[in-house]
Amino acid sequence: ARVSVRGALGVQSANGERVKVQGWIRSIRSQKEVLFLHVNDGSSLESLQVVADSSFDSRELAFGSSVEVQGQLVKSPSKKQNVELKAEKIEVVGNCDAKDSGFVHIHTPVITSNDCEGAGELFQVEPSSKIKVPEENFFNIPVFLTVSGQLHLEVMSGAFTQVFTFGPTFRAENSQSRRHLAEFYMVEAEISFLESLQDLMQVMESLFKTTAMTVLSNCPKDVELCHKFIAPGQKDRLEHMLKNNFLVISYTEAVEILKQASQNFTFTPEWGADLHTEHEKYLVKHCGDIPVFVINYPLALKPFYMRDNEDGPQHTVAAVDLLVPGVGELFGGSLREERYHFLEQRLARLGLTEAYQWYLDLRRFGSVPHGGFGMGFERYLQCILGIDNIKDVIPFPRFTHSCLL
Ligand code: 4AD
Ligand code: MG
Repeated sequence: ARVSVRGALGVQSANGERVKVQGWIRSIRSQKEVLFLHVNDGSSLESLQVVADSSFDSRELAFGSSVEVQGQLVKSPSKKQNVELKAEKIEVVGNCDAKDSGFVHIHTPVITSNDCEGAGELFQVEPSSKIKVPEENFFNIPVFLTVSGQLHLEVMSGAFTQVFTFGPTFRAENSQSRRHLAEFYMVEAEISFLESLQDLMQVMESLFKTTAMTVLSNCPKDVELCHKFIAPGQKDRLEHMLKNNFLVISYTEAVEILKQASQNFTFTPEWGADLHTEHEKYLVKHCGDIPVFVINYPLALKPFYMRDNEDGPQHTVAAVDLLVPGVGELFGGSLREERYHFLEQRLARLGLTEAYQWYLDLRRFGSVPHGGFGMGFERYLQCILGIDNIKDVIPFPRFTHSCLL
């Protein structure tokens, strides 16, 4: 008979009852002759211990896989639990493929109360006026559509070390440009025990290249269609990006390069000012149409969570943007400020201490150096396919004054 984990754990004197339990693997321990699994289905805080002999094929039994276990409920020899399930048959219902490089997929929420980027480009969420909520406000506090899953990933990277998310992201950016959408998809990754921007850039470059190579080998016809009819010459431009090592320059060097060419720009390049699209595109051209990482931006330009470089009067943070041909900024990332006192002071100056108490707490209990990045998915498609306007790589683009269906 099928029983819940709670039901199985509740059996007082187990005596070989045949049962079937369905749930998710919460831990795996394999010893020479036995395999221990902890399985939970959400019916109980405790997991049920499943004991299997080591002849079971354990290749697909991974943390997070869903399984159906048939076997006998027996009294457990261990003091920790009353009963355990002696497995006769374990079937994997759905395997849980962490990415090859060991990143665990996290579903980060769409509705959130935080403004990760601190840019105020938020869409506020409220129930329709027909809904009667007893209190004045559905969630008691203002909530928004997410601008980034980063802060939630930071929480989860404290449990799984390397995590990623891929989902819709929303920005109330009043822009009609060829690279801005109000709703776009973002791939974000967060890595614990990350020590340097160098290590982060390696992951970014490898994500860019391996994804492009996978797309090229899995969908050659579709890519060819774009490269042939929409963006002639793009095939060579993409190959050029894939076969060269990406370059690295500092923000300060970037501004120097731009100043040499200031007659080309509408916005005068200046240390301390944000790079405009025209600047970014110029830098990529200057680098021979090879993607280029720009690192160490002024602290004043970047969000509160970026790690302070403590480099004197210039005062930069360990930020990194990847600029690519045709688009400009494709990735934004940074080392995170993992030091409690630094973060506390930054938040205090911005008047955010109260709202981000939970985030500060991550730095109080087992803080580690960490960092991550986000890559705009539509911009990525633009870049590898050579599509000029971002609105052409998504079936239902949303932007200012445009959300008809
Ligand atoms: O640089 P951004 O704002 O970085 C973050 O949100 C970080 N919290 C990510 C992280 O570290 N986890 O956004 C990341 C990328 C940009 O580089 C760009 O490619 C894309 O998201 N992006 C947009 N794409 C389309 N339309 C918009 N309005 C976009 N805004 C950002
Ligand atoms: Mg950015």
